[in-house]
Amino acid sequence: KSSLPDVRERTLIAVKPDGVQRRLVGQIIQRFEQRGFKLVGMKMLQAPEDLLSQHYSELRMKPFYPSLLRYMSSGPVVVMVWEGHNVVQTSRAMVGHTNPVEALPGTIRGDFSIHVSRNVVHASDSPDGAQREIQLWFQGKELLKWDCCDQTNTC
Ligand code: PPS
Repeated sequence: KSSLPDVRERTLIAVKPDGVQRRLVGQIIQRFEQRGFKLVGMKMLQAPEDLLSQHYSELRMKPFYPSLLRYMSSGPVVVMVWEGHNVVQTSRAMVGHTNPVEALPGTIRGDFSIHVSRNVVHASDSPDGAQREIQLWFQGKELLKWDCCDQTNTC
């Protein structure tokens, strides 16, 4: 019997319009795959304003809120649900600090971005936040259950 922890935490990762336009989708997916996480949902869409305003509802009083919504609706985004042990916290570490000037090299933002208003990728900041965001962006039937055929890997 496997001694791996059976934690099925999920998080929402979105490649923002600048990440799509800069052809970074593949490299971002690759980082999550090679880390060992499991992709259980993915779609590309031009996010409608009401969806974005719900997603960023906690930020509505921030001065950058209008420009954040304009940016996020300026082109398609690729939204994904990734699953695995401690995926929320680990994804935040992989994505790096919100402000690219503080994001360490090796993180997605530390490698691919220079400005907070074009920071390439979104990652849920807590398990509760992830659950809320996943329900907002995905219908239950769009999230797929699948298993590995090879019992030696970490699925
Ligand atoms: S805050 O101020 O602490 O609530 O902000 P933070 O949690 O670090 O970031 C929340 C999201 O707002 C985005 N953000 C910005 N967008 C545009 N311009 C500026 N100045 C700015 N500052 C923060 C930040 O990228 C976060 O978006 P997500 O999609 O969660 O990464």
